[in-house]
Amino acid sequence: MRNIRLDNVTEVASQTFAGATDERRRQLSQALVRHLHGFAREVGLTHAEWRAAIGFMHRVGEISSEQRSEFTLLSDVLGLSSLVDLLGSPAGATPGSVLGPFHTAGSPWLDNPANLIGHNAGERVLLRGRVLNAQGAPLAAATLDMWQNAANGLYWQMDPAQPSDNLRCRLRVDAQGAFEIATIRPMPYCIPTDGPVWTDLVEPAQRSAWRPAHYHLIVEAPGYRTLVTELFDEEDPYLDTDAVFGVRESLVGRYEDVNDPAGAARLGVPGPMCRVMHMDLVLAAA
Ligand SMILES: [Fe+2]
Repeated sequence: MRNIRLDNVTEVASQTFAGATDERRRQLSQALVRHLHGFAREVGLTHAEWRAAIGFMHRVGEISSEQRSEFTLLSDVLGLSSLVDLLGSPAGATPGSVLGPFHTAGSPWLDNPANLIGHNAGERVLLRGRVLNAQGAPLAAATLDMWQNAANGLYWQMDPAQPSDNLRCRLRVDAQGAFEIATIRPMPYCIPTDGPVWTDLVEPAQRSAWRPAHYHLIVEAPGYRTLVTELFDEEDPYLDTDAVFGVRESLVGRYEDVNDPAGAARLGVPGPMCRVMHMDLVLAAA
């Protein structure tokens, strides 16, 4: 094609990917061209804006490393990560939410009920629940991988004062699908504000940097789709302004004061009352 014009450049560029032998790759490449061109056409993208965007992407790459993915943050603040989570959340199952940058494989296996409190400051609480299938039957073979931040708002990776296994664990549910983790109440925290995603994109929109407090969970059971999700706190002030769009109504839990002397003893608080969040997690069949 030697006569590329405004009215054919999109189709010509898209067609150059038609020869991809992998059908899915062809679909992704051609749709990417169509939608990028559609964006540029809609806004009448100028040379100056296009150069600024390229420069922005360079800076997003330059600040990224093994320990930090500014591209993931970019996806998060645009709502793309959340959209992919929702596209992968089957109806009838607990919805997925943001994995985030602080999951580390290989958390220690603890007995159920587990206790993560150790030397952590903060409000002592019990996180309880059951892992169920869509029909409400317990999944006794399920495992949980759980991680959260400390009372200072930091995950262990951000805080040299915390041991590397702080506030994270894996555990097996019991025969009723139930689990209990004695821990401290997670805290709200801010997304990174020292990189181009914040300075060039989020802050100019006068958006909030805050994420509401949450537990992170990966729930697995043989024969079921793995669930990556978060559990939030009904009393958190940032539920409606999560910087990365992770909140779903069914993921918001409530701490209740429960009369449970044995639970209070496991928490290490004066009994008989203790604060408990109970959340059931429903997995979809694979
Ligand atoms: Fe998090």
